[in-house]
Amino acid sequence: MNDGKKKPVSVGPARRAAFEELKRRGSLLRFGSHQAYRHVLQTLSIQTGLDLSQPSTFVIRITDRCPLRCRHCTDWSADSTGELTTGQWSDILDDIARWPGSCHTILTGGEPLQRDDLDQLARHATRRGLTCTVFTHGGNLGPARVARLVDAGVRCLRISLDGIGQTHDTFRGASGLYDAVLRNIRDARKTFPSLAVVLGAVIVEPNVDQIGSLVRLAGDLDLDGIEFMVLYPSFYDRSSPDPHWYRGHPAWPTDPSRVERALAEVGELRRQGYPVLNLPGQLDLFARYYADPTARFDDVPCLGLHTKVNITSRGNLFACNKERGSLVGRSLREVWNSDELRTMRKRATSCGLPCAIACNFQQPFLSRVRLLGRVLRR
Ligand SMILES: C[S@@+](CC[C@H](N)C(=O)[O-])C[C@H]1O[C@@H](n2cnc3c(N)ncnc32)[C@H](O)[C@@H]1O
Ligand code: SF4
Ligand code: SF4
Repeated sequence: MNDGKKKPVSVGPARRAAFEELKRRGSLLRFGSHQAYRHVLQTLSIQTGLDLSQPSTFVIRITDRCPLRCRHCTDWSADSTGELTTGQWSDILDDIARWPGSCHTILTGGEPLQRDDLDQLARHATRRGLTCTVFTHGGNLGPARVARLVDAGVRCLRISLDGIGQTHDTFRGASGLYDAVLRNIRDARKTFPSLAVVLGAVIVEPNVDQIGSLVRLAGDLDLDGIEFMVLYPSFYDRSSPDPHWYRGHPAWPTDPSRVERALAEVGELRRQGYPVLNLPGQLDLFARYYADPTARFDDVPCLGLHTKVNITSRGNLFACNKERGSLVGRSLREVWNSDELRTMRKRATSCGLPCAIACNFQQPFLSRVRLLGRVLRR
């Protein structure tokens, strides 16, 4: 008998999963098309001098705190008072979400898992249409922890791995870390196949002869990418760098020709299909940098100021190696369009400093397309 009431449509688990998958692919494609649109504006700005750029990535250092003491990093030693509260970060995320289209937010640190509200912040970001990646040392990513991040909408984990076995543990000052990271990655891969997992490795003295092995490991683990970075003066030391900071630095590679060979091997493995996210041109620039870290890169336009907004744990804008004032209570759009940032963007094209060759290099969009392609095929 029909009593006139509509019966609730019951959707089986298979259909629900198919619907969720469709939604995931739809949002990734939407994200890709918005990133492409911004890439065009950013490239036009660099090439014509017209200031059309809109940021596509927001790198948010939600804390400086970290239990590790990696040899190349001093973030953990920063004064951690004044870190923004959940509410203040949520306001900043709301402001980011007001940019048209889908932006990429990277929650990093310090170690972002040190913040109890990491899931809450990630959920806040993703509910507002932002795509969210978490950078982590990966040692504490047990299955339950990853499940909470995935539930909060995190699409990608970028896990540091600076060497094989004992090399990694010694460099990061944490016994058993390498095994824990590998176990966590394998578990995450098995349980959440649609979660992108990428390795990040800084090229340093202890790992120069293991760079190729790291690439092969990323392939064997079926990861979505491995991204190499160069060693810099530490984050908070950059505003007054000693030009010879690398001399006597415990992690600075002593023999540039070994680095050159390692980078050539990375290029070769990339050609063979290993998931290296760095473009070949960038690997060549890395070799140049390690041969002479004081060299200028006048031929490399810096895209960092056109593509990204870096925000420190106290909510300050960080650009060109200096803090540039608080974003709390200020609209990001107003800051982005300020005379100070416009002038800095104009100069960036021919700045020549080495920060242009790593995460400010012109490839972020292209490597993201590669990553997106791999994630969509999953
Ligand atoms: C600061 S950590 C924050 C996320 C997390 N704690 C981790 O270790 O991945 C982000 C990245 O910066 C890298 N990093 C730290 N100090 C660096 C330096 N002096 N030069 C280049 N990269 C550095 C780390 O190796 C890591 O890949
Ligand atoms: S690199 Fe990451 S894990 Fe290591 S000390 Fe720095 S913030 Fe901590
Ligand atoms: S290369 Fe120059 S413009 Fe680019 S971030 Fe570094 S200091 Fe700024």
